[in-house]
Amino acid sequence: MSRRLEEMKLNSFIIKVGIAFGLFLVVLGGVGLPVILDKTQTGFRGTGMFVSVNETIREEEKQFHAAPEVLYELTPEEEEGPTAGEIYENVQVLGHLSDARFTRLMAAVTEWVSPEEGCAYCHGEEGNFASDDLYTKVVSRRMFQMTQTINSQWQDHVGNVGVTCYTCHRGQPVPANIWFEEPVDESNDAIGVGWDGGSQNRPGENVALATLPNDHFTAFLLNDNNIRLQNMDDALPQRDGDYGTIKSTEWTYGLMIHMSEGLGVNCVFCHNSRNFGAWEESPPQRVTAWHGIRMARQLNVEYLDPLQPVYPDIRLGENGDAPKANCATCHAGINKPLYGAPMANDYPALLQPGSLP
Ligand code: HEC
Ligand code: HEC
Ligand code: HEC
Ligand code: HEC
Repeated sequence: MSRRLEEMKLNSFIIKVGIAFGLFLVVLGGVGLPVILDKTQTGFRGTGMFVSVNETIREEEKQFHAAPEVLYELTPEEEEGPTAGEIYENVQVLGHLSDARFTRLMAAVTEWVSPEEGCAYCHGEEGNFASDDLYTKVVSRRMFQMTQTINSQWQDHVGNVGVTCYTCHRGQPVPANIWFEEPVDESNDAIGVGWDGGSQNRPGENVALATLPNDHFTAFLLNDNNIRLQNMDDALPQRDGDYGTIKSTEWTYGLMIHMSEGLGVNCVFCHNSRNFGAWEESPPQRVTAWHGIRMARQLNVEYLDPLQPVYPDIRLGENGDAPKANCATCHAGINKPLYGAPMANDYPALLQPGSLP
């Protein structure tokens, strides 16, 4: 056989395989995908801006993302009468509540945070409710204040939906999604790979196992580093600043991956991919996310990080820092936590700080 003929045979074989594969994809696309994927367009036509939802997975996870029912309704009479501050000994944050409201809140908190351990998780087995001996109670008092701050000062992010302890805890004392500072990997540092003491080049779970610097939470959700790379006044990136460099691009990308994964969305949920920096072309969700970054930072700086001395060692990170929150702590993989259930309204004590008697 001549060489030319051999080549033609090979070519026609490749073409056949190609056609068969193409048909396979068409069948797969025609039969499989529409059943699984639901698409919502979120931006201009032709810019690929849509959010796809896998209905099968969503159905399986429905229970996890369902908001719990209100325990029971209170009658108007129960709203009256002496307050918790008047009845009990050591109520520093919730003292303005009527006794009935206070008791219902304690029962709800138990469901939200420690359903298996019960009241004892914060009050001990002895039933000495006024005592502050357990760290869990001291942490909880701060959690009440943090929740009030989220609901009263961050409406630009949480709207009128708000959050309760359940948004983060989901029936567990330790929320599923928390973060700590990444310890520096000395071995990487010694051989000089990666930025900042080798926090790069170790495939981190935070960054979808990419070898990006993986302590972007400390950089952006605890410290206030610049997230902007484009929109610079200068035509060329600055060499010495932390702005527009490859280094800052990698850090930013790490955070963006977390935000996408934490909300279960794609980059185009918040960006028009023809210009990631342009706010005029971004969907409104990006503005909500902008506030979310500032909110998460405030929660970590003012509430969660300072609790460090209160926690037992077993709860602290490798660097000895306190557990902290990121987007996934509330969102748990969907764009609206608990599918946007407005559960905070049922517990007015969580909506704003109360004036104590
Ligand atoms: C997740 C932690 C947590 C759980 C669980 C919990 N509590 Fe509390 N409880 C607190 C905190 C925090 C305070 C103090 C609130 C304040 O200072 O405003 C408190 C205060 C109290 C007080 C006031 C005691 C006093 O004399 O000062 C009573 C009574 C009480 N809780 C009852 C209960 C009961 C009953 C349960 C179970 C149904 C329960 N709590 C479950 C955190 C918890
Ligand atoms: C924004 C998310 C968020 C909200 C809302 C929230 N928490 Fe927390 N909570 C956390 C994080 C993060 C931790 C640290 C986890 C750890 O202890 O390891 C924590 C820890 C705790 C702990 C200590 C658990 C332990 O065993 O170490 C208690 C108790 C607690 N929270 C109670 C509450 C109560 C009560 C509320 C509602 C008033 C609440 N939390 C609301 C995020 C939240
Ligand atoms: C949930 C919304 C959201 C998602 C999802 C998201 N981003 Fe962002 N992105 C933002 C916000 C908000 C900012 C601006 C942050 C700031 O300035 O504080 C930003 C900033 C950026 C910037 C810097 C723009 C500038 O002005 O220099 C880039 C680049 C970027 N994102 C890329 C991505 C990529 C790539 C993805 C997907 C992996 C992604 N983003 C996913 C919200 C999002
Ligand atoms: C304290 C809990 C909490 C944290 C932490 C949090 N969010 Fe949210 N987020 C919410 C709530 C509640 C809503 C409002 C949902 C609604 O309106 O139904 C929301 C809404 C959003 C929306 C709008 C979704 C839509 O479909 O319109 C975006 C985008 C968003 N969050 C991004 C983020 C990002 C990015 C972070 C981390 C930097 C973050 N969130 C951290 C609670 C939180």
